[in-house]
Amino acid sequence: MNTPHITLWIVGAGGFGREVAAYAQDAIDAGHLDARLAGFLDDTDADPQSLGCPLAMGGPIDAFRPQHQDRVIIAVGEPSDRAAIAARLEAVGAHFATLVHPLAYVSTRATLGPGVIVAPFATVGPHAMVEAHAVVNTHAGIGHDCRIGAASVIAPHAVLNGWVVAEAMVLVGSSAVVTARIGLGAGCKVAAGSVVYSPVPAGALAIGNPARLSRLG
Ligand SMILES: CC(C)(COP(=O)(O)OP(=O)(O)OC[C@H]1O[C@@H](n2cnc3c(N)ncnc32)[C@H](O)[C@@H]1OP(=O)(O)O)[C@@H](O)C(=O)NCCC(=O)NCCS
Repeated sequence: MNTPHITLWIVGAGGFGREVAAYAQDAIDAGHLDARLAGFLDDTDADPQSLGCPLAMGGPIDAFRPQHQDRVIIAVGEPSDRAAIAARLEAVGAHFATLVHPLAYVSTRATLGPGVIVAPFATVGPHAMVEAHAVVNTHAGIGHDCRIGAASVIAPHAVLNGWVVAEAMVLVGSSAVVTARIGLGAGCKVAAGSVVYSPVPAGALAIGNPARLSRLG
């Protein structure tokens, strides 16, 4: 058996971290990812092994000193935290893996940035661009020609119709729908189950069907 080319660290040992660890192991087992799973980087006293996860803790994020074979992937759910952690890791010279679960569909005409996670049963359509550290979670659908900004999180079962442009650090909640060509401003949130027919300004919360706007608290 050949030695894997990369050593993969998962940043964040919470529930999403344990999901991402499982997705990475699936990708390795399917032969889609030539990696060895090393463990979690996390600043808390999380204990994923007590919850049945085989991966060990590898220490706090700022103590990480990447070796040439190391790659990291951020498994934290809050978009602004994803962006901040990415900046800390970039500052120490870390390189990022892109993780696509074997059961996801990503068009060969789509573009995925470093650190992107595409979870099982998610779809990313042709000419879509998913920027660095964004997450397309389970069963989410990214339509053709969408742009998903850096560190944004598209939650399970959310659907973005074609040509939607989400700027950086956007959260689209579970089962929300964003209709075609709508713009989502940086740092905005779309509440779970909402249906968005109009642009959402930066930093706003869109909630309900049809979604109405309010400021984030
Ligand atoms: C919209 C959201 C951000 C609001 O969170 P919050 O600020 O903690 O708000 P609260 O839970 O205090 O609720 C405030 C009000 O909004 C309502 N509300 C909350 N979420 C709602 C939703 N998704 N749709 C409709 N109404 C909602 C509440 O019923 C409450 O109404 P009230 O003032 O009449 O009692 C949150 O509910 C949400 O939808 N988050 C996304 C969750 C998600 O999908 N995460 C992804 C995980 S991978």
